[in-house]
Amino acid sequence: MTRFDPAGPLRGELRPPPDKSVTHRAALIGAMAGGPTRVTGYLDSEDTRATLRAVAAVGAQVREGESDDRGGMFVEIEGVGLRGARPAEIDVGNAGTLLRIMPGWLAGQPEGDWTFDGDESIRRRPVDRIATPLRQMGAHVECREERLPPLHLRGAPLHGIEYEMPVASAQVKSCLLLAGLLADGETAIREPLWTRDHTERMLAAMGASIRRESGALIVSPAGRLEAGDIPVPGDFSSAAFFIAGALLVPGSEIALREVGINRNRIGLLAILSRMGVEMGGAHETGRAMTVHEIREPGPEPVATLQVRGASLRGAEITAADVPAAIDELPLIALLACFAEGESVVGGAAELRAKESDRIAGVVEGLAGLGADIEGRADGFAVRGTGGLRGGTLDARGDHRLAMVGAIAGLASREGAEVDGFDAVTVSYPRFERDLRGLLA
Ligand code: S3P
Repeated sequence: MTRFDPAGPLRGELRPPPDKSVTHRAALIGAMAGGPTRVTGYLDSEDTRATLRAVAAVGAQVREGESDDRGGMFVEIEGVGLRGARPAEIDVGNAGTLLRIMPGWLAGQPEGDWTFDGDESIRRRPVDRIATPLRQMGAHVECREERLPPLHLRGAPLHGIEYEMPVASAQVKSCLLLAGLLADGETAIREPLWTRDHTERMLAAMGASIRRESGALIVSPAGRLEAGDIPVPGDFSSAAFFIAGALLVPGSEIALREVGINRNRIGLLAILSRMGVEMGGAHETGRAMTVHEIREPGPEPVATLQVRGASLRGAEITAADVPAAIDELPLIALLACFAEGESVVGGAAELRAKESDRIAGVVEGLAGLGADIEGRADGFAVRGTGGLRGGTLDARGDHRLAMVGAIAGLASREGAEVDGFDAVTVSYPRFERDLRGLLA
């Protein structure tokens, strides 16, 4: 149990840790390239270490360099080329992104066998969403009960397909983009709603041909990917915990520097603006949030986010809002407890297939802290009561629920005990230290 007492305000500056999604992709795509790829700010966390071990297992050479002050490290990856992966058994740990993206690359290898397996939570995460389209491309894929890990692959020649994705998932899209590089002919992917496009940006920077045409994403076969330098932006999803903390604790004022602001990731900002948070640019004074110092050091834009305490009102969140805010929806439940009026999140059944069933976890967790919250099949409804009593929250082995519990404790009247707080090591090992640093 880790305890978070009512505290605050949050003050000062922070560079949040490097982005988890971009880090996974840097290792995988670096391993597919010919020559050395240098990653600046490779996130040092359990999930992303599993990806480094996975690429090393298939033959890439990984050299770790110096660590930086935000929990990142310099990593050089000598790729094996698009078709040079050697057979391996891959333990993904808790990393769903690794489990769902890497098979896209391996499915099209000229020969070899690969098995993907992981922890207890990974064994409950559906992989039929990648197995179905990969089989349509000609891949040999098997999984337990036709839908769960372990997942077994045998390399086979692939051909391009046109695929309409039934669920909006950046992991599935990325898997198919990688498979499309090794296929014979073009692969066209249609998403029901736009999801994060980190893979597209990185592949394009490394010389792949990817275009959008009449709403479809089309990838052409490639002979090779050019190795290069990949700077990893700060993780907006990690920064989001401090955004919520600063909004909820009166008198707070923080600056979060070098945060990735890819438009497919920052749906939280649009939702906050509907919840009454006034947003502005550098020269607009008096706003609760400003976004400034926008730069593009690589394929991903970054900015400084300045946040202060603010009052909130309830809002309705529908399916169209979900992909760009998917990992922040548990935090929205917390914010909604402090808002005036009711908030409803719908169209978010995908939350049940994350590291834990995040609908059940957030509903039980926040109810245990005194929230007026009710679960629905595809989301939840929260009646804001202007605050939260406090109590105990079970993180259920889920890093994001653990961090929601910590912020809830700070903003509550009596504090919160977070059971299973250690889960934060999956994406943000330094979270507690960074948070306490802003409270000092
Ligand atoms: C991710 C995509 C999202 C997100 C996950 C990371 C990615 O999952 O929830 O934390 O890196 O592509 P889905 O693609 O399953 O929605």
